[in-house]
Amino acid sequence: MEIPSVLYAEKLLSEAQKLNPGLWVEHSRTAGFCARKIAERCDSLDNDTAYVLALLHDIGRRDGVMDMRHILSGYNFMLSEGYKDIARICLTHSFPYKNIKAYNGQNDCSEKETKFILAFLEKTEYNDYDRLIQLCDAISFPNGPTYIEKRLVDVVLRRGFNDYTIPKWKAFFELKDYFDSITQSDIYAFLLKK
Ligand SMILES: [Fe+2]
Repeated sequence: MEIPSVLYAEKLLSEAQKLNPGLWVEHSRTAGFCARKIAERCDSLDNDTAYVLALLHDIGRRDGVMDMRHILSGYNFMLSEGYKDIARICLTHSFPYKNIKAYNGQNDCSEKETKFILAFLEKTEYNDYDRLIQLCDAISFPNGPTYIEKRLVDVVLRRGFNDYTIPKWKAFFELKDYFDSITQSDIYAFLLKK
């Protein structure tokens, strides 16, 4: 997997912050913290790789305030930087439950772009980095890690409940169980400050 150095990834996020400041930047930093902490306890995951992928998963927001389109924007930006593995994470992080209709928000992509995302998800078999960043996205508030339930309820209060909410929640809880089992722990035990 080819990824930028931690220093370069932090530079990309800082540049993005200047272009489009917002809470998403601190959310990304929390996700980076969580990804590294979990990876430290997984033999199959590299700590710096996990950190960089999480730090840049929402990098598409550098291009302005967007809804689902931020995933495609991030994908295109990371490809232009030559990092296809991060580009992939930009697209997969929003779909722990592989259904584009389950996205919490507006689909502000064109029909052609939507088709591209659908085809990409269909042909992509998730690996542990995809799963890790999906989980970290769900437990990262701008001010620090949180319980998955708090973030899910926060999203429903802001975006509403739909037919896909329950299967999507199940997918998140499966992710947590998965990493609890790999780390032989409860991830909250080492992520949340008591
Ligand atoms: Fe995110």
